[in-house]
Amino acid sequence: DRATAPRISVIGSGYLGATHAAAMAELGFEVVAADPDAAKIAAFQAGVVPFYEPGLDELLARHLDSGRLRFTTDTADAVAAADIHFVCVGTPQRATSHAANLDYVEAAVAEVARSLTHDGVIVGKSTVPVGTAERMRELATALAPAGIDVELVWNPEFLREGKAVGDTLHPDRVVVGGASARAEALLRELYAGPISEGAAFVACDLPTAELVKVSANAFLATKISFINAIAEICTAAGADVRTLADAIGYDPRIGRAFLDAGLGFGGGCLPKDIRALMHRSGELGALQAVGLLQQVDEINMGQRQKVIDMTLQAAGGSVLNRRIGVLGAAFKPLTDDVRDSPALNVAAALHLRGAQVGVFDPAAGETGRRMFPTLSFVDGVAAAAQASDVLLVLTEWDDFSDADPAELAQVVHHRTVIDARNCLDRGAWEAAGWTVIGLGVGDAP
Ligand code: UGA
Repeated sequence: DRATAPRISVIGSGYLGATHAAAMAELGFEVVAADPDAAKIAAFQAGVVPFYEPGLDELLARHLDSGRLRFTTDTADAVAAADIHFVCVGTPQRATSHAANLDYVEAAVAEVARSLTHDGVIVGKSTVPVGTAERMRELATALAPAGIDVELVWNPEFLREGKAVGDTLHPDRVVVGGASARAEALLRELYAGPISEGAAFVACDLPTAELVKVSANAFLATKISFINAIAEICTAAGADVRTLADAIGYDPRIGRAFLDAGLGFGGGCLPKDIRALMHRSGELGALQAVGLLQQVDEINMGQRQKVIDMTLQAAGGSVLNRRIGVLGAAFKPLTDDVRDSPALNVAAALHLRGAQVGVFDPAAGETGRRMFPTLSFVDGVAAAAQASDVLLVLTEWDDFSDADPAELAQVVHHRTVIDARNCLDRGAWEAAGWTVIGLGVGDAP
């Protein structure tokens, strides 16, 4: 048996990799995190998290200090210093299809395998189409230097942005696919802390592990599109989807989580994961899955169009030269991530129709501006609301639900707010003279 604890390398230092690296250091292991982006690595090494993720800066500072965590641009260096290699690179949607782009995963696995200086275990964490891991195993075996033993397992990650640190340190479950008895023991050792706290440990084969991940996200996406479909009925029938969600959510078989109707899901995961799963299901001939996922995607994208149409209507048929105040740019609160952000999607569409759009987000102003340089980003809720004909709440930051409707009433042109996340205290806003239009809460479409 080993005299010392296994050492860890983490390949890819994005939201997932950086959080995983810092969390593994917190769990007591020695960790080297690698990324080819020199500016990013320099930031981390200087104790600066180059994106918004609550709590990650403290964890980073603690383990730069403890000496258990360091960063490098040199993958080979990271691999040489470790026994277990986590692959945490992105698998974005391809530009020309719904398929996942696996170039980064392939390159990472190949580079780790080639760089091995002693026996090691490669642990895939990236979200991949089912069947990828088996190919990566063959690739790793083929590229590992002669005489060096390499194993490849898949250990999907379920962290949420904005809650990444807590989710990583206290996962609901640890799923490990394709592990030998030796690798399984190693993974159990790495996750001993969370397991002792009650995280379930699920050992399975490679394809099951890959599918657990995307099925979880597909189910969450389905819950959201389901409640948005029900919200459509609620609007037509004059019912209130929030009370309805609470009421059905008391049934533990249903559960209240992920039943908030509104602008729908975005971000770097749910949209691209359901599309990649749709694509892969098609390849595998699983056509019912294709149909279901297509509906989920369509309902979701339809919510954005619905809010655009509601805005047009609230502005009197056209937004040309109208001032539209937009509260929210991030795809959800507590992140500066604007990948596939429903909020920015709506803001950009209104801008294209000739509206003067002023956007405020407490964290995503910078990332938003980089993605949509033609949109005007302003500083503060009041600045976004200033002289607006219609005010839109597109991300449910506390800053927006906490804003004072009476104060905002003073600065707008028209007191009309579209609460696309159903997050405002409607009574308080109405008392301040506002017309509040929500989604699925009985307001006319
Ligand atoms: C999601 C999953 O929740 C994680 O478990 C998973 O690990 C991650 O993807 C991933 O694959 O990496 P994340 O993308 O950070 O995490 O965001 P979520 O908290 O899931 O929210 C996704 C979107 O759904 C947001 O746009 C949010 O506004 C929307 N949403 C969420 C709703 O519209 N209604 C709800 O009731 C809940």
